[in-house]
Amino acid sequence: MATFLRGSILHFLRDPGAEPDPAAWEYFDDGCLKIVDGRVAALGPAPDILKARTPQDTLHDHSGKLILPGFVDTHVHYAQVDVIASYGRQLLDWLNDYTFPAERAFADPEHGRRIAKLFLDTLLRHGTTTAAVYPTVHKQSVDAFFEEAERRNLRMVCGKILMDRNSPDYLRDDVAGAERDCRDLIERWHGKARLGYALTPRFAPTSSPEQLAMIGRLYAETPGLWMQTHLAENLDEIAWVKQLFPEARSYLDVYDRFGLLGPRSVFAHCIHLDEADRARFVASNSAMSFCPTSNLFIGSGFFDLEAARRLGVRVGLATDVGGGTSYSMLQTLAEAYKVLMTHGQRLNAWRGLWLATLGGAECLSLDGKIGNFTAGKEADCVVLDLAATPVLDRRMQVAKTLEERLFALMILGDDRVAAKTYILGE
Ligand code: GUN
Ligand code: ZN
Repeated sequence: MATFLRGSILHFLRDPGAEPDPAAWEYFDDGCLKIVDGRVAALGPAPDILKARTPQDTLHDHSGKLILPGFVDTHVHYAQVDVIASYGRQLLDWLNDYTFPAERAFADPEHGRRIAKLFLDTLLRHGTTTAAVYPTVHKQSVDAFFEEAERRNLRMVCGKILMDRNSPDYLRDDVAGAERDCRDLIERWHGKARLGYALTPRFAPTSSPEQLAMIGRLYAETPGLWMQTHLAENLDEIAWVKQLFPEARSYLDVYDRFGLLGPRSVFAHCIHLDEADRARFVASNSAMSFCPTSNLFIGSGFFDLEAARRLGVRVGLATDVGGGTSYSMLQTLAEAYKVLMTHGQRLNAWRGLWLATLGGAECLSLDGKIGNFTAGKEADCVVLDLAATPVLDRRMQVAKTLEERLFALMILGDDRVAAKTYILGE
């Protein structure tokens, strides 16, 4: 039995670039996606694809709406649901005043489950189907998250936050305990259903050299793990890292010395980097998460997309809630556009929607499984109603080209346009 989704369908085959290359995407104005056993079986013009339909098959007709691969949020904190929109602090004060106290509550597994449910339902309502997620230092916060993700059949990456110093004692682990917890959680969750485990040192200041060394050992010895952390977000943070690790050439070099770079390593923010750092990204094939709403809200600075992409560094988009101010990957794209404008770069709609889908999948090394609609991919997708608000509706009516419509979607869209989200065709 197959499921057919009919509507306008857009997906990407690679980065369209700053001067968009039309060979990088496929668009079907009246398209159809055929899904069998949760995977893409065929994509093409509706009249062609629907020829194969039998009476047992299901057809969902979304004509007039736009179907995209589900959004991929490459960096977000589920434990910061209650931190979003907290006033007036830059990174280090923001962590101390708002974030650490909020994360303390996750010692209670019941709280973790409640927030995990709320968080995942919120992602789905925004059309986000995969994310790389930070829980808290508490092992039970990871169990709560993965249990709820598995219940919803989602492809998700997560792993216990590691922090054994420079943080409140109620959020501190230690090297041996953290290693035990990681091994236990990896055993329980890594590769189960659609879930993957990420070693997650919060950031260099909150891990001792001994803990970073332990993480490097685990990373080297366990195939298929991810490593995610924060990097070069804020100037005070960078000065602190310099003080704590005087022997390192740069912030990135701290992680490098402990073996934390690599094709499954995802670094959030990456604002204040130099050319040597970028060269290490290239050589190690590490990835970056671009978090525009967070970088604006916490006053951190402006990500340089061109510098990364020119070198071929993989970049994904990320909300970074609760530092970020929206779960919507469309709103995040609108802010990305503005951030890039501040230093003379432009984000066209093609590249924007690529970033939010296949770009994110590439960033997380998940592009073999998700991110577009090539045959065999897992059929996670979002149906967008481009007339969901009066402002959008009017703008769409006067738009002359598809590109103009997609750009208006990226600047004006939010959760109200996400009409339906499909997970594995359901
Ligand atoms: N750096 C270390 N921890 C965090 C966090 O929770 N959010 C952000 N934006 N940056 C961090
Ligand atoms: Zn973050």
